[in-house]
Amino acid sequence: MKRRIPTSPGAAAFNDKGCGMAQLLNEFDCERTLKNGTYWMPFTANRRVKEHPASRIITSAKGAYYYTAEGKPLFDTLSGLWCTPLGHGHPRIVEALKTQAETLDYCTAFQMANPVTVRLAERIAGMAPNGLDHVFFANSGSEAVDTALKIALGYHRLRGEGGRFRMIGRERGYHGVGFGGMSVGGIVPNRKMFANGMMNGVDHLRHTYDSAHMAFSKGQPAWGGEYAEDLERLIGLHDASTIAAVIVEPVQGSTGVLVPPVGYLQRLREICTKHGILLIFDEVITGFGRMGDNFASQRFNVKPDMITFAKAVTNGIVPMGGVIVSSDIYDTFMTGPKNAVEFAHGYTYSGHPLAAAVGHAVLDIMEEESLISRARSLEIILEEAIHSLADLEGIKDIRNIGLTAAIDLVPASDAPGARGLPLFELGLKNGLLLRCTGDTVSFGPPFISTTEQLQDMVETVRRLIVSVTQ
Ligand SMILES: Cc1ncc(COP(=O)(O)O)c(C=O)c1O
Repeated sequence: MKRRIPTSPGAAAFNDKGCGMAQLLNEFDCERTLKNGTYWMPFTANRRVKEHPASRIITSAKGAYYYTAEGKPLFDTLSGLWCTPLGHGHPRIVEALKTQAETLDYCTAFQMANPVTVRLAERIAGMAPNGLDHVFFANSGSEAVDTALKIALGYHRLRGEGGRFRMIGRERGYHGVGFGGMSVGGIVPNRKMFANGMMNGVDHLRHTYDSAHMAFSKGQPAWGGEYAEDLERLIGLHDASTIAAVIVEPVQGSTGVLVPPVGYLQRLREICTKHGILLIFDEVITGFGRMGDNFASQRFNVKPDMITFAKAVTNGIVPMGGVIVSSDIYDTFMTGPKNAVEFAHGYTYSGHPLAAAVGHAVLDIMEEESLISRARSLEIILEEAIHSLADLEGIKDIRNIGLTAAIDLVPASDAPGARGLPLFELGLKNGLLLRCTGDTVSFGPPFISTTEQLQDMVETVRRLIVSVTQ
């Protein structure tokens, strides 16, 4: 059956507004500039793009679709980079952005405040678990993570425990690309080139994935909760008195949706509490509804000392990130001489009013349209659809939780890790913008997706997997 797919607003949108962008783009040869490399693309096989630049250019987006230069729709299977759960071009967000730009387009956050940002802090704290009541704004997930690590160091120092300097991350974790996030991260290709620049004193928990016991689990694997005891091993090695914080993603997104085993996060919490170590949940992907709850910490019923967030808070439209901090931590900083800056940290764009205004629009829409409950309902649809692929010979594992899922393909015998790129490129030809890394393809569709769109996505993926693995 043919599905109705909205048509591209296209470059005509610029013409309608009479802005100079249309002329600029009309005279511009994007393919040529991509080919000559003036634009260095992030986390991209740049030389591969140069071979087929036309297929990599997106010119507009609406709802759950992107549109290529030829007007071809691509279903947004990962909500951008896990950041656009409300889809693209939402008129209320556009309006909020415009109104804010006309009212207060920028305001320093150092020594000055604006009501839009202050109110957003209050709303975000209101969505977080009780006791996480203070919000410090940054502009990205990487900045949020580095901020949280600095808060952890400052907290212990202010309490007279400056010897606690170690950070514990986890293998296969992703915490952005700042020096802090890179150091606590555990994805090898993101680390090896920069090995000389790692922060001092970082160690890593083992990751929680074991295909022998977990393959094809729906939701949380029943097996593997005891992996949390690995923290006791590291404490035994380094001594708790040297450890400032443990940082984990409740669900490891970037490495292919590794779902925490039942009891794992609870046990990490217990061990951290026992040894006076701060627990940071990096909820840059899982925050703001992706787990069918405000935050993963509510979904899994585990309260960390800090939550980092970014991405969905503004539906990815204006960059924003931040850290939600416990009252104990905040109060520890609010000491010392009254006129002194308590935390010598912040960004020129911390709590940017445009981002904050968009944040309000996003939270309004999520509330009014019950989109977080919708994500929870769609979880069941996605789970059923994605696990229906289990019969394919080319698949090694399928996992899911919240509105996320991942498939591991059986690697090619002569080229492990090489399945993703051809699958991604086939996706572009077949109406899907896929997220493929190595032999894994991850999914995090928009909360506004329909049941039909999710089922269609999976059926297309079925065909593509057969084609790349046979
Ligand atoms: C868990 C997590 N932390 C941090 C980041 C880094 O965020 P950003 O790319 O906004 O710096 C990401 C990005 O995907 C992430 O998934």
